[in-house]
Amino acid sequence: MIKEGLSFDDVLLVPRRSGILSRKDVFLGTRFSRGISLELPLVSANMDTVTEAKMARFMAEVGGIGVIHRFLSIEDQAEEVRKVKRAENIIIEDPYTINEESTIAEARKLMADFGVSGLLVKDSKDSLSGILTHRDLLFDGNDSKKIRTVMTKKVIFAPPKITIEKAKKIMHEHRIEKLPLVARSGKIKGLITLKDILKKTENPRSSKDKKGRLLVAAAVGVKEETEARARALLDAGVDVVVIDVAHGHSAKVFHTLKMLRKKFGDIEVIAGNVATPSAVRDIAKAGASGIKVGIGPGAACTTRVIAGVGIPQITAIIECAKAARRFKIPIIADGGVKNSGDLSKALAAGADSVMIGSLFSGTDEAPGEYVIENGAAYKFYRGMASYEAGKDKQDIDGTKDKFSRTPEGKSGRVHYRGPAKNVISELTGGLRSSMSYLGAHNLDQFRKNAEFIKITGSGYIEGTARN
Ligand code: XMP
Repeated sequence: MIKEGLSFDDVLLVPRRSGILSRKDVFLGTRFSRGISLELPLVSANMDTVTEAKMARFMAEVGGIGVIHRFLSIEDQAEEVRKVKRAENIIIEDPYTINEESTIAEARKLMADFGVSGLLVKDSKDSLSGILTHRDLLFDGNDSKKIRTVMTKKVIFAPPKITIEKAKKIMHEHRIEKLPLVARSGKIKGLITLKDILKKTENPRSSKDKKGRLLVAAAVGVKEETEARARALLDAGVDVVVIDVAHGHSAKVFHTLKMLRKKFGDIEVIAGNVATPSAVRDIAKAGASGIKVGIGPGAACTTRVIAGVGIPQITAIIECAKAARRFKIPIIADGGVKNSGDLSKALAAGADSVMIGSLFSGTDEAPGEYVIENGAAYKFYRGMASYEAGKDKQDIDGTKDKFSRTPEGKSGRVHYRGPAKNVISELTGGLRSSMSYLGAHNLDQFRKNAEFIKITGSGYIEGTARN
């Protein structure tokens, strides 16, 4: 028997009676993994032409999440994670300090080098003794003076375990912009700045961890180095580890999942990629916190041509989502999204979030510069199983052998799209519209209300603009 498999362009969503008055009246919150919620169901792909720190930071700022690719040395990948965790940090755990016996000249240099407007001052016992800001230095021309003679000595501070709300109240009451966090012993344990709090209000939907830092995920493989890579990523503060292999329904993935659970306990681990309900069941039982679905739908994928293997993405999502629901485990639909209509169909079919590569790769936040050819601007995009990516990975690993695996991806270019916020607003605008056509205030309702209709070739043509 031959089963039928449908993809994005084979189906449409059936409109239904709607009580939605405004497209702003819909909520896009979702779950990325068992322990991580997002305000936006969008994930940037773990590909070297899509997600490094800049894209991951942007994705978290707008309420989604980015997965840092693994085609980097362990140290470099961990550093990309650290860059995201350091950004918009509400509690700075390791603030810049200076000794009270240092000079104004030294303080000026430190402030310029680190790009900060103030330093916490400590005494010989490493306890907080004052604070030094630009204001303290403004009218003091004598650079050889000691810090202790110019610093502000009366410092308002708080205990390390303070909540952001309480910190805000103290800063407002005392009209201060910096609040040091100090242990009973007098030792400096952190710093909260007004600037970071204000940034948080600018992006109220951003994805944050318990400490107020932006969320970030990172990919690992299933090789011997995986334990060391995962450890470095977790030490750097990564929130989710994503086991990323082409065929996720495999012994190596189960082994890696088991190893990660044994070594690191209750961390968030997503595994993939898969496309069948039996794979979802097996991976869920093996302890994954989320499952990535998609074999061959991606824009740079050639798996279906090279191996003749895959499942059209809408069918894969519907079947995998059904199996995942029984385990209450979120799924991420990965690949093949060409426009906001595809995004809407993926979510309506049962995906909890959607991973995107090609559409994001043309933006400023993706790695690499754009090039101009014949008056048009392009950026580079390549499949991670392409010949070119495989060769570069060998250089990173230090292996010089000829690249032997048959490539299952291609390398090319995409149109330059400017800032990623343009793509996000196109995608979310279309999704909100889709949800209002289906009378859904949130993604749960959207999935419940979704009815797909299979269309013919002429139905597809009818739906495309022909003017
Ligand atoms: P889109 O369509 O958003 O898809 O660009 C991104 C997803 O494509 C997958 N990917 C590959 N699949 N060969 C494949 O068969 C490859 O070389 C390849 N590189 C990426 C991946 O799942 C990604 O998230």
